[in-house]
Amino acid sequence: MNIVKVKNYDEMSNKACQVLVDRMNKVNNPVLGLATGSTPEGLYKELIKTSRKGDVSFKHTTTFNLDEYIGLSKSNANSYHYYMKNHLFQYIDVNMDNVHVPKGDVLDIKKECQEYEKSIRSHGNIDLQILGLGANGHIGFNEPGTSFNSRTHIVDLAESTRQANARFFDSYNDVPEQAITMGIETILESKEIIVLVSGNKKAEALSRLVNGKISEDFPASVLKEHIHVTVIADEAALSAM
Ligand code: F6R
Repeated sequence: MNIVKVKNYDEMSNKACQVLVDRMNKVNNPVLGLATGSTPEGLYKELIKTSRKGDVSFKHTTTFNLDEYIGLSKSNANSYHYYMKNHLFQYIDVNMDNVHVPKGDVLDIKKECQEYEKSIRSHGNIDLQILGLGANGHIGFNEPGTSFNSRTHIVDLAESTRQANARFFDSYNDVPEQAITMGIETILESKEIIVLVSGNKKAEALSRLVNGKISEDFPASVLKEHIHVTVIADEAALSAM
């Protein structure tokens, strides 16, 4: 696991954008794995700027998002479909037919999980996956205790995750209790992974990721088994090392 140390959130976002654009320009039909949450917002702003300058095009890019809440429709402002449209997709030249976010509002969620897996495979797996880090070590919505062999599946969200995400909702009770997420094994099949970590709220988690042992109690720890992972972390996130 390679660790890139940067000063602050803006530098982290810039660095991530540079790496992503570099990789996108090296393959013909890049397949990106994308995350939501606060951490990648700066990266998406940088990507929009870069694409406006003409330095990158998403015309031949396919994207797969990590996760989605169960029960929220695409038009719900708290859904990850909405987040992605609002923070990235509406500003770039991506073909919306090539954009994939798990559907959390279909009747047969299990079938949706299987189809999501099939779709990722049929694209030859993800070239570059962007991850944020949950304070409890979750990646995607794979909470502590999730099997390292998991594929795309339904999860019961941990109370701490619902509390952490309540800031986006009117109240804690409005945060869905379940989500659909790429599994840990699915994530590990990505050819390259970038983990973005910013702020002192993530400092303990980052220290555990770097210094702790590999255990299903701390899902992100599995990333140490992957051959091509880069963590881009700012000073505040690195403060507990
Ligand atoms: C989001 C996701 C989550 C977040 C994590 C950190 O798609 O999969 O694992 O990356 O919860 O969230 P933020 O960035 O809001 O601190």
